[in-house]
Amino acid sequence: MQHRPPQVPDRNPQFSPRSRFCDPSDTSRFANALASSLPIELEIGSGKGLFLTQAAQKQLHHTFIGLELATKYARDAQAKLERLGIANACFIACDAVAVIDRDVPDNKLAAVHVYFPDPWWKSKHKKRRVLSDETIVNIQRTLIPGGQLHFWTDVLDYYEEAVARIMELTQFRGPFYVPEPVAEHTMDYRTHFERRTRLNGLPVYRARFEKP
Ligand SMILES: C[S@@+](CC[C@H](N)C(=O)[O-])C[C@H]1O[C@@H](n2cnc3c(N)ncnc32)[C@H](O)[C@@H]1O
Repeated sequence: MQHRPPQVPDRNPQFSPRSRFCDPSDTSRFANALASSLPIELEIGSGKGLFLTQAAQKQLHHTFIGLELATKYARDAQAKLERLGIANACFIACDAVAVIDRDVPDNKLAAVHVYFPDPWWKSKHKKRRVLSDETIVNIQRTLIPGGQLHFWTDVLDYYEEAVARIMELTQFRGPFYVPEPVAEHTMDYRTHFERRTRLNGLPVYRARFEKP
């Protein structure tokens, strides 16, 4: 697939928000992060940014990009990175589905992380799930050989359907079993939703795949 570079946003209000960045600073921040020579890890639906903020501090030689539809979450998480002086991560306010499809080149990402995506319970709304067939194919396209897909959710139906589609649509190895990490204090969770789910005593379903 031909890669198209990030575009300057189109301000036409009739233009679908699914197909553009929120503002020019996001466009350039995203382009800079993608140009990194370090391994690039991308999170779809980064929420309040707990995973990426912690991962960026532990893995200084990776670049982390969080794509988040809720502009306020992305802005607040970006401001926190800047306060903490974390330079190897950024949060972008955008629709990850459109951005991955349009702006991420083939064989670019060392890892893609999808944690607790919105479940869209009703059958007629399931097509809104971020782990759609389109996104799964794009994740395979954009990962480098050996690249990893991490998918965690508290919704068994989402887990079973997405894992089955990943196995049908890709050549990925997996799903590999991911043991539950030990949580000794309140920051020992990968994301806010993992913390909330586990503190409520509910199960988390985890899978890891690898591109051959
Ligand atoms: C249930 S929350 C989980 C947040 C975080 N991953 C966690 O585990 O705490 C799902 C997040 O995905 C975001 N989201 C939903 N659709 C998205 C899309 N198409 N692109 C980017 N983010 C999206 C939502 O705004 C929300 O912040």
